[in-house]
Amino acid sequence: MARILITSAIPYINGIKHLGNLVGSQLPADLFARYNRMRGHEVMFICATDEHGTPAELAAAKAGKPVAEYCAEMHETQAAIAEGFRLSFDHFGRSSSDRNHRLTQHFARRLGEAGLISEVTEKQIFSKADNRFLPDRYIEGTCPNCGYDKARGDQCENCTKQLDPTDLINPRSAVSGSTDLEVRETKHLYLRQRALKEKLGEWIDGKTDWPVLTTSIAKKWLNDGEGLQDRGITRDLAWGVPAQFEGAPWAGMEGKVFYVWFDAPIEYIAGTAEWADANGLDDAAWERWWRTDKGAADVTYVQFMGKDNVPFHTLSFPATIIGSGEPWKLVDYIKSFNYLNYDGGQFSTSQGRGVFMDQALSILPADYWRWWLLSHAPENSDSEFTWENFQASVNKDLADVLGNFVSRVTKFCRSKFGEVVPEGGQTGERAAALIAELETRVRAYEGHMEAMEVRKAAGELRAIWVAGNEYLQSAAPWAVFKEDPERAAAMTRLGLNLVRLYAVLSEPFIPDASARMLAAMKTDDRSWPGDIAGALGALAPGHAFETPEVLFRKIADEEREDWQKRFAGVRT
Ligand code: 2FM
Ligand code: ZN
Repeated sequence: MARILITSAIPYINGIKHLGNLVGSQLPADLFARYNRMRGHEVMFICATDEHGTPAELAAAKAGKPVAEYCAEMHETQAAIAEGFRLSFDHFGRSSSDRNHRLTQHFARRLGEAGLISEVTEKQIFSKADNRFLPDRYIEGTCPNCGYDKARGDQCENCTKQLDPTDLINPRSAVSGSTDLEVRETKHLYLRQRALKEKLGEWIDGKTDWPVLTTSIAKKWLNDGEGLQDRGITRDLAWGVPAQFEGAPWAGMEGKVFYVWFDAPIEYIAGTAEWADANGLDDAAWERWWRTDKGAADVTYVQFMGKDNVPFHTLSFPATIIGSGEPWKLVDYIKSFNYLNYDGGQFSTSQGRGVFMDQALSILPADYWRWWLLSHAPENSDSEFTWENFQASVNKDLADVLGNFVSRVTKFCRSKFGEVVPEGGQTGERAAALIAELETRVRAYEGHMEAMEVRKAAGELRAIWVAGNEYLQSAAPWAVFKEDPERAAAMTRLGLNLVRLYAVLSEPFIPDASARMLAAMKTDDRSWPGDIAGALGALAPGHAFETPEVLFRKIADEEREDWQKRFAGVRT
């Protein structure tokens, strides 16, 4: 049994996330967590809401609520939707938690004591119309790197370059739109990332098995141009982790907080501590996942995120960890994703474009979305959601292949043998061929799941369903029944066992359907198949079952057209 720590990039608190966000981090992380639990490994799966910084302040102001209240409410909303999508976090924490405040200050103190933090008096943009400094996201303008005209002060969404607000060309206030901005002096703490460049470079060079998408982005920001830059890690904001605290190795930082990107990844650790607190466990319980001196040396740590998050996870967060000089667990593997586009354009939170998680669940259950999103995950390039494609995949893969298979086997059995696994008979050559095929395919499926090749895993699972369907079609127990009911019984027994096997194999993708299939088969045997022939004997003759209701319904053309219209506009 292995121990696997899994974190998903933590979603910003500023509203409900769209399907593009979901497929870029939380959903594939859930797939991997579920798979590893099914394989009997010990899994710790952590996510949280990213509650600090300008996005939170802006959203709270827009909602007309105090920021703490806004965050508390939106956290509950996001937690309920995550539950709706069956995201199986061991804990869904909050970056504003007391745990994260303490840990963030702990890391800052360690970095300061190690000489890795410098105090810099810098010029920053002040908006007279808004009467405040405008850090990072409060400023929009043109990216100096690629020319994108809606770049934010912290990062360009278009080319992923990490920016400082003063880098922007033609800056304007994102709060008021005002261009009446002036530069004023303010003191900030800088993390001396450059001093860690060599260590970071060596660490990344050792990660030869990482996806190209991950390492290419990391190396780009490590080496391109002037290379890795020192980063400002404080901001002139009220909401966040205070940068002046007891024992801090600096003075004069009152009224300032740590930058949201400094404390957000620390929440992965803090979230695990919150998990321990929530379960009445002591510090040792979470430290064994995070401290290599306290049991985490044998943990495999995997992170999931969209490509825009890669620089922060390959450079900034490891700089915090390495710079602390303490034995914290560093990530072993970073699975990153490209973007999912929506019907000829981009999904966009700020512009309300696309399908948002709550809307998706209001029209169809989670499994339909999970299947489409995962089987079309934007792994090697950006991918696109279209309603036609969604309809076609659901109708074919889920309804015609898997759903139809389950329905045919169970209904045929009920009509000829009753709702029990039938006795007697021998299956023929076709069954032997099916078993051989499944043996190969299941091992391939495991390989893809372990490698986090999401699309390939989905493809293999689909092929596993198809193989059962084709077997049933060609073996045709309904025709055989007339001459040789014993052989038809053996075929049907195999079919019913396939239903259980499919439930087990499909659980990470479509957990609700999987649970319904197992309930229909009246079994809690969720054991992962070793040899396939053995696994197909799990339901013995005489075992009672129940014919399930339709597993997946088809999407009609009119419905699809209706949704297409409904979600063509902008969410307000
Ligand atoms: O891009 C985002 O949605 C960020 N909220 C991700 C933060 S991940 C981590 F650092 F915690
Ligand atoms: Zn750019």
